[in-house]
Amino acid sequence: MMLKKFYEDTRNTQSWNKKYRLILFAFLFFLALFAGITLLSYDKERAKKLYLEQCSKCHRKDGRGIKGVYPPLKNSDYVQNGDKIELLRGMLFGRSGKIIVNGEVYYGVMITEVDKSLSDEDIALILMYVYKEMNNMDVEVTSKDVQRARKEGKLPPHK
Ligand code: HEC
Repeated sequence: MMLKKFYEDTRNTQSWNKKYRLILFAFLFFLALFAGITLLSYDKERAKKLYLEQCSKCHRKDGRGIKGVYPPLKNSDYVQNGDKIELLRGMLFGRSGKIIVNGEVYYGVMITEVDKSLSDEDIALILMYVYKEMNNMDVEVTSKDVQRARKEGKLPPHK
């Protein structure tokens, strides 16, 4: 009698163990899936291609710009201290006026430099590329940020 109860108890705990294992497994599975999705949301090759198409003719392929004419995006104190919405507004609607980047004065005009056919995701991706690959900053930029920048509109010229 005692022995039978003991046997049933162990069987019960075993099936509980199985359930827990299943729950744990499902948890880990979704965790991995989630991590995969976040990693995939930054596609470096695509980001690089877009940067080269949209920005490199002025800011150069390596992002160092041309001293006195086109400010650098690589190791740019302006990018590093700036706000991502402000940077997006510049990309979407252009920027002009006096701007000081790494101690150098630029007095130029950047017109709208992102192609009208680009999606908000792609525009966000270009800025993420500038942050990650040129300034070693892990800043998340989303299509929501781009929509916010669109709403806020064109920047007033720098004084
Ligand atoms: C036709 C040339 C040209 C292109 C193409 C261009 N820019 Fe610019 N960019 C400029 C100029 C000129 C300035 C300085 C504007 C000023 O004097 O106010 C500037 C300034 C900037 C700044 C702020 C200063 C700095 O260097 O940190 C950022 C950020 C920027 N550009 C990002 C971009 C991005 C991203 C792209 C591609 C989507 C792009 N630009 C394409 C000419 C260009």
